[in-house]
Amino acid sequence: MKNIDHIGIAVKDFADANGLFYKLLGAEPYKTEIVESEQVSTSFFRIGESKIELLEALSDDSPIAKFLEKKGAGIHHIAFEVEDILSEMDRLKKEGFTLLNEVPKPGADNKLVCFVHPKSANGVLVELCQEIK
Ligand code: CO
Repeated sequence: MKNIDHIGIAVKDFADANGLFYKLLGAEPYKTEIVESEQVSTSFFRIGESKIELLEALSDDSPIAKFLEKKGAGIHHIAFEVEDILSEMDRLKKEGFTLLNEVPKPGADNKLVCFVHPKSANGVLVELCQEIK
């Protein structure tokens, strides 16, 4: 694992939350992007080397809709940047972590991603992400 790439935050109202984080961070999102496969809208704010990803559900089937229903708005996941996602996935599997996807999938912000089940990671949804070069 390299650094923390971003922290994902589930939001109920995308426009409101983008306005709030604009005020909080003093910066506009540098990107907004829809990830169809996850049924989410995302926006990214940069703070130094780290990023904040806001996530809004686009449908009731979205994992974000389910999260909001259970836990409400708040921190959804922590994403770690990795050099080689396949070898990290392999390593974590051998360490006994449960991966939510068996093969890396395209995520937001030009990344290949894999999620680790929060039940196997002390209640924290962990995202591994590798930049697509
Ligand atoms: Co993320």
